[in-house]
Amino acid sequence: MPASRRGSGSVILPTGQTLAIHTRTQDEEDLPHATKRTMADHLRKYESLFTLTPQRMRMIVEAFTETLELGLNKPNQIVPMIPTYVFGWPTGEETGDFLALDLGGTNLRVCLVTLQGAGKFEITQTKYRLTEEQKQDDGQKLFDFCAECLKTFVETNIGEGPGMLKAGQTLPLGFTFSYPCSQERIDHGELIRWTKGFGAPNTEGRDVAEMFKQSLAKYNLPIHLTALINDTTGTLIASHYVNPRTKIAVIFGTGCNAAYMEHVKGIPKIAHLGILDECGEEKDVDMAINCEWGAFDSFEHEHLPRTKYDAIVDETSNKPGEQAFEKLISGRYLGEILRLVICELIDEGVLFLGQNTYKLEKPYCLDTAFLSLMESDPTDELLMIIGIFTHFFALETTLAERQFFRALAKLIGRRAARLSSCGIAAIVNKMGYLEEGCSVGADGSLYNKYPGFPDRVHEGLQDIFGDKGRNIVTHHAEDGSGVGSAIIAAMTKIRKDAGLYAHV
Ligand code: BGC
Repeated sequence: MPASRRGSGSVILPTGQTLAIHTRTQDEEDLPHATKRTMADHLRKYESLFTLTPQRMRMIVEAFTETLELGLNKPNQIVPMIPTYVFGWPTGEETGDFLALDLGGTNLRVCLVTLQGAGKFEITQTKYRLTEEQKQDDGQKLFDFCAECLKTFVETNIGEGPGMLKAGQTLPLGFTFSYPCSQERIDHGELIRWTKGFGAPNTEGRDVAEMFKQSLAKYNLPIHLTALINDTTGTLIASHYVNPRTKIAVIFGTGCNAAYMEHVKGIPKIAHLGILDECGEEKDVDMAINCEWGAFDSFEHEHLPRTKYDAIVDETSNKPGEQAFEKLISGRYLGEILRLVICELIDEGVLFLGQNTYKLEKPYCLDTAFLSLMESDPTDELLMIIGIFTHFFALETTLAERQFFRALAKLIGRRAARLSSCGIAAIVNKMGYLEEGCSVGADGSLYNKYPGFPDRVHEGLQDIFGDKGRNIVTHHAEDGSGVGSAIIAAMTKIRKDAGLYAHV
């Protein structure tokens, strides 16, 4: 009888690739699984790759703070520090009916917001899921779709008649467009680049406010665009409206970004605009800045701890080199980072030998929501993880493997949270908020749904600042792209009616 080839192993090909081999016979039922010991060895390797020491974090904060300053000093920087023309904080006394349209990374949302004054409001909304095709289709078509949804919303929720919209009356609209746009006025915005996997042609470099106005005209809508807003700016204003200790807003969702209130005199690159207060001075005027910090360390990759999995995520994205910080943090990418690590272990013959892994080999098939589920699995047997792997990927796992996947998810999620605290710390440093402390309004699926994300951000802040880090507290923000957008539209109307900074 010839010697049996049964067993598992791997060989390195002359090309450097690893080929995993497994041979079994008809009467073998058990699948070969990696031992507990092997998994523990591998975990140690990933721990050192994905762990950020406090010292490393402080170095990142230093580079980050310098980058923020640079963006305020000079136009067209990698982290553009965009002046938003949202002047100062709301008073809480803004009133009126406003439409809000929110084009985020995943959904399109239409809202009618009634600001009642004294910090009170009422909001009615509908949501539409965006398809992958729409994200890549012509830009004008995307705005036409927005206008079409608005039309349906207005017809259903407002209409004409008593107590409704009077003939000839138009409704003010705040458009939350959550992509980097350089603004010359509040109702203008030239798209610098698409992020979050969007790629709609004929849009980058163009004024999206103007494109959107064309779509409004096409559908003959009784609406006028009052303000073009980033989701972080909306979140900043809405959170301050309900909690005046809020000084910074952050979004950790499909993308990641921050906004804060800056003194106009601290934005040298717009000095030529001559924005002065009633006394003809610059000193007391404040303006919200949309940092677009997702772009930190783009192209150069000098400061962030990128692993080879991060490099693959970047190179295979539709925007290689760009949004380097965002690609290590945001919900769009975390699942893919975990998937790439698992695929490497499949290629090395460590995981899933003898099982068909084709389902797991599809890029982006492992949603970041799975990481949340893995981390929050409350059972000893990790039944949730069994479910994920059998149901979605037709793969069997042992307890040791499941514990390994959970530990990996934790490493990736924790790194994202600690990097997020580096960004927050940079703004705190820049504005000198550490001693007096401040609230940070935070929103987005990662912040709201990923177990332990806020605690890890706080832990990160203490690692950076020591005990004083406790003075900086994040909290779930008020709805920025609905309520925030309406407040900004109201503030803009009040400002323009008063003839203040009317040219912007
Ligand atoms: C965009 C930002 C946005 C953030 C969160 C990023 O990809 O560039 O404008 O604020 O995502 O939605």
